Amino acid sequence: MCGIVGFTGMQNAAPVLLEGLKKLEYRGYDSAGIAVMNNEAISVSKVTGRIANLCARTRDGADLPGTTGIGHTRWATHGAPTEENAHPHLSNDGRFAVVHNGIIENYLSLRDELRQDGYRFESETDTEVIVHLIELYYRGDMHEALVRTTNRLSGSYALGVICSDEPGKIYAAREASPLILGVGIRENFFASDVTALVSHTRNVIYLEDGEFAELTKDSVRIFDCLNQTVEKKISRIAWNVQAAEKGGFEHFMMKEIMEQPGAVKATIAPRIRDGRVVFDELTLTAEELREIRQIVITACGSAYYAGCAARYALERLTHIPVVLELASELRYSDPLIDEHTLLIVISQSGETADTIAALKECKARGARTLAVVNVVGSTVAKLADNTVYTWAGPEIAVATTKGYTTQVSVLYLLAVYIGDRLGLLENEYKTLVKDLQHLPRRIQQTIDLNASIPDLAKKYHSSKALFFIGRNTDYAVSLEGALKMKEISYLHSEAYAAGELKHGTIALIEEHTPVIALCCNPAIMGKTLSNIVEVKSRGAEVLALTFRSNQKIISVADDLLFIPDTDPLFSAVTEIVPLQLLAYYVAKENGCDIDKPKNLAKSVTVE
Ligand code: F6R
Repeated sequence: MCGIVGFTGMQNAAPVLLEGLKKLEYRGYDSAGIAVMNNEAISVSKVTGRIANLCARTRDGADLPGTTGIGHTRWATHGAPTEENAHPHLSNDGRFAVVHNGIIENYLSLRDELRQDGYRFESETDTEVIVHLIELYYRGDMHEALVRTTNRLSGSYALGVICSDEPGKIYAAREASPLILGVGIRENFFASDVTALVSHTRNVIYLEDGEFAELTKDSVRIFDCLNQTVEKKISRIAWNVQAAEKGGFEHFMMKEIMEQPGAVKATIAPRIRDGRVVFDELTLTAEELREIRQIVITACGSAYYAGCAARYALERLTHIPVVLELASELRYSDPLIDEHTLLIVISQSGETADTIAALKECKARGARTLAVVNVVGSTVAKLADNTVYTWAGPEIAVATTKGYTTQVSVLYLLAVYIGDRLGLLENEYKTLVKDLQHLPRRIQQTIDLNASIPDLAKKYHSSKALFFIGRNTDYAVSLEGALKMKEISYLHSEAYAAGELKHGTIALIEEHTPVIALCCNPAIMGKTLSNIVEVKSRGAEVLALTFRSNQKIISVADDLLFIPDTDPLFSAVTEIVPLQLLAYYVAKENGCDIDKPKNLAKSVTVE
């Protein structure tokens, strides 16, 4: 939520900041602003709406000359998306500007205190207290002002600060919100994530909680909360600039759907060597795995649904019971978790506030923790005892696609890996490994098999509500399919376990209600077929998703989507693809902003 960026160098800062903000816009896009320092004065420009408005307002940055500046794109938490509430916020004396991602939990008491000291507030935000505290504590030394200010803050923050008394310098500080420094040649940067940096430099430093940084064009210095120098290593980002561009596609979402065969291959291929699943990054021994009595999977949104989808493979291959719990619930549920629990947390961004809190809670109760994460160096990745990266590359569209399929793929690999250590039979093991190796090709085949989706979208896009039904893995994929549909097309979509229909939901089925029926497991297909017949006899229009050789369904369904014939144990990564495409084309028919759906943000760093 919210993206921040900072630049100091030889060229004008504003165009660099605007370009960076465009890359961060997926993090929040209801208002934006930049502050640039020139001749020891700070100029600010803020707008409501998208970065494009800010570019227009500043004539692509030309109106704010100066080589040092900070910028922000907002997802409103405290205060409506107005220009007053947009960042950067200025101090009353105009000498300091601040951008902030996170939430200051004690802002109300700080605001009262600062008001009593005579400070004037221009916004309703929690952030504004920070800039007034800096003004209060600044006695010619920004380090001291930052240490004293951050000492007063409870909550989370990634901060960017400039001070007109300190030309050429940008400051950044971090506590529980992502922040990365970019190290260039005669220019340096900070940003909420690497996508804003890769076009300038691939050399980065990951700031830790409690640290702050002082950047000039020629130096990057990092300090801890006691103002002691901290030595940090420079890491090299593996992604290139193209990975964060649309590459000829109309939307990032379509690009990312099409990237799935490659992303899943990048996730699986390096982890299968000589026919064996290998996880060089795992420190869990076979002995430790034998002591595990339950696997608890926790995450939010699609990442949670990835866990739901992979649960069947994990249980069948490891014989360990799997419990699924939403991170926002788990953190407050006083969970029955101890050292015999393997906690698997799943997060594309690695910065989701509830997921981080659930991970901390379970760690404190003694669980062994394993994170499945996409963003290298993220908070979840650092907190967990074991981290397995999904190697999906940057995911920019707010609605996840390749993030989900690579998460499920890693969980499949883990199921086979742990199962092997706990005594999986060699013959079954070999077949499973082969099936995993075929997944990238099967995803491509799925894309090729479903060329009719744009036409189907024309038929279904004006529906009032859609129902997704299925059993077991089909049900888990239905949950993700319904979420994709509702978040980007704004159509009311609900997923139900097919067997639950007659316990209430079937009352909602009427003439032409679309029911998307997932039917990809031959062993239980007959049961879902009965549910299809039930809804059809009440007038529903059925779009069935099934495996290619399934003849039985042809006479029952109105329309069909296909996956190639595949072991149902690993079918979720193919099943979801037609549903992603359907959601995409329905949203397109409805003229929705596909990459940036309303009210959403990519990285949910607040509770
Ligand atoms: C939906 C979506 C969200 C995320 C959720 C968790 O398309 O992207 O539901 O899956 O916010 O995000 P991460 O995986 O970053 O923890």
